[in-house]
Amino acid sequence: MKRSVIDILDLSTEEIESLIATAQDIIARPAEYAHACAGKKLATLFFEPSTRTRLSFEAAMYELGGNVLSVTDAATSSASKGESVADTARTVSCYADIIAMRHPKEGAALVAANAASIPVINAGDGGHCHPTQTMADLLTIRREKGAFSGLTIGLCGDLKFGRTVHSLINAMARYPDNKFVLISPEELKLPSYVKKDVLQEKGIPYEQTTSLEAALPQLDVLYMTRVQRERFFNEEDYLRLKDSYILDAAKLKAAKGDLCVMHPLPRVNEIATDVDADPRACYFKQVLNGKYMRMALILKLLKEAAQ
Ligand code: NCD
Repeated sequence: MKRSVIDILDLSTEEIESLIATAQDIIARPAEYAHACAGKKLATLFFEPSTRTRLSFEAAMYELGGNVLSVTDAATSSASKGESVADTARTVSCYADIIAMRHPKEGAALVAANAASIPVINAGDGGHCHPTQTMADLLTIRREKGAFSGLTIGLCGDLKFGRTVHSLINAMARYPDNKFVLISPEELKLPSYVKKDVLQEKGIPYEQTTSLEAALPQLDVLYMTRVQRERFFNEEDYLRLKDSYILDAAKLKAAKGDLCVMHPLPRVNEIATDVDADPRACYFKQVLNGKYMRMALILKLLKEAAQ
């Protein structure tokens, strides 16, 4: 049966476990999967800029032996002629077996999923969510920390518009004994639909602070984010807030020795390059983990669609 993944909560915790197990098996035995999607086509429809997400979906499909059709820019697609997301999704369903879609509007992936006759994976819808980045983040946390519970997780930067933060909180809130430290300027605080409906609703402990330095010593995971320039209404506000937090090697001295520093990338100034050589820097491992998790997800959804 056709099934789409729009939100990380579309996958149960058992399914997340099973995707992690598949990803780990792919890492251990890549040759076993080299022809798993032979004859299948993934369409990547990206109406917003991307390097990692699109290329990692495409690399994932190639490593599964499948093929890729790609729209890399809204301006060169019929979206620029005024075609609706629903019509585009219906059309692409005639050519491909599965879609990964990124769109600047919140809810666009859901509209596509409702119209398509093939599975749709949300590769980021505006400031809303980004489930496959969260899958990359989860595999990274599992490989680095060994567990999804008992962690103090700091989220730093643009918590308002950062869709990766919203999805990661939704995912980690399902596991016991975690605490969140929300580090942002006043103007970029976590939206209340995440704070109230997820953290407060579930009674999950959290702190809010504007100081990265104050938060750092207690953290097991630090998730840095870019200030999302493209979601601001005016450039002045962006310029004022863009360098609110910069993690560098000097600040990192106050952190735990086994801190896991994450970032969905692209980074602008949030993490100085002098952090890159620190063994606690995990952001490029996250990139690779994203490819394996996307391989596991494509496999799962194509298998379910064939049943
Ligand atoms: C993120 C995104 O697109 O939301 N990037 C990504 O997919 N790895 C984060 C960002 O753009 O800042």
